[in-house]
Amino acid sequence: MSTVSNEALSRESGQRDFVEVSARRFDLGAPLEFPIYLKLGDAFVLYRAAGDAVTDSHLSRLTECGLGRVWIPRDATEPYLAQLKFRADRVVEDVLATPAERAATCYEVGASLAESALREPKSIEAYRALESVVDRVVDLFHWHSYSLMELLEQMERRPDLYEHSMQVCMYGVLLGKAAGYDRLHELGLGLLFHDIGKLDLPVDLLEQPGALAAHEWNIVHRHPTLGIDRLKSCGWVHPVVRDVVQNHHERLDGTGYPRRCRGVQLTVASRIAAIVNAFDSRTTDRPYRPAVLPFDVLQSMITRGAGMYDRSLLEAFVRLLA
Ligand SMILES: [Fe+2]
Repeated sequence: MSTVSNEALSRESGQRDFVEVSARRFDLGAPLEFPIYLKLGDAFVLYRAAGDAVTDSHLSRLTECGLGRVWIPRDATEPYLAQLKFRADRVVEDVLATPAERAATCYEVGASLAESALREPKSIEAYRALESVVDRVVDLFHWHSYSLMELLEQMERRPDLYEHSMQVCMYGVLLGKAAGYDRLHELGLGLLFHDIGKLDLPVDLLEQPGALAAHEWNIVHRHPTLGIDRLKSCGWVHPVVRDVVQNHHERLDGTGYPRRCRGVQLTVASRIAAIVNAFDSRTTDRPYRPAVLPFDVLQSMITRGAGMYDRSLLEAFVRLLA
């Protein structure tokens, strides 16, 4: 680690002035807009100054030394997120990038979208959680099947659906992590594809500005089942993924769809999916109604939605957004 400077910041400046991020999140070889620090014991040690670059060999050495996490000054979080977005835009437009590269980078954008939706993620804990989510979802793409990649590519062509799916994925993995759920990979994948069945519904129906008629709702209500059919075409898919796609509109009191499952029939994964999908859907503009403020949505889910959602998971979600 010969590149580590001995310039240690005063210990009094403390952890509160820094944000921990993954060392993998930097644009390799590009000049940094802000310095990067390592935390050695209680001291923050300058690792790369503003204007320096993190190279592939730096990253390898950090990884070899077990230093996958580095620290940036708290006031550098905005340029940090800006460089993430810039990198995402570049990769998404790069026709030579593989689907895995594009998908992984899109997830990083998803993380920053989730970050803005979380409104005030200024605490170190929030950043840790967010970074951890990014790492986990990026890791998804190291092992899942190419046919799922193709599905993801089809979804990219529907920006509203794609953005909703990424945000639901982020919220759900954050909630799953907070709740101690141990199948986060599968949960994240299920949430990413939860509305994939909508690709088989008429776009006119989904974008209709007015209220839907009963027979039109009946068509929309088919999308979880259509999603399962899509997944079947991908070969073997983990049961948690299927569960989330099939049951994200089910409610504990049996008022959901498509099968009107209730209570113990619904797993933790499907209960998480129900909460985060309902939250993201209502806090986003839809053709047939404007977005509702997050606080009002949560209040409604707790009061009018009592009995529909898992109370302890809903409370954990509220704490996450508080
Ligand atoms: Fe859905």
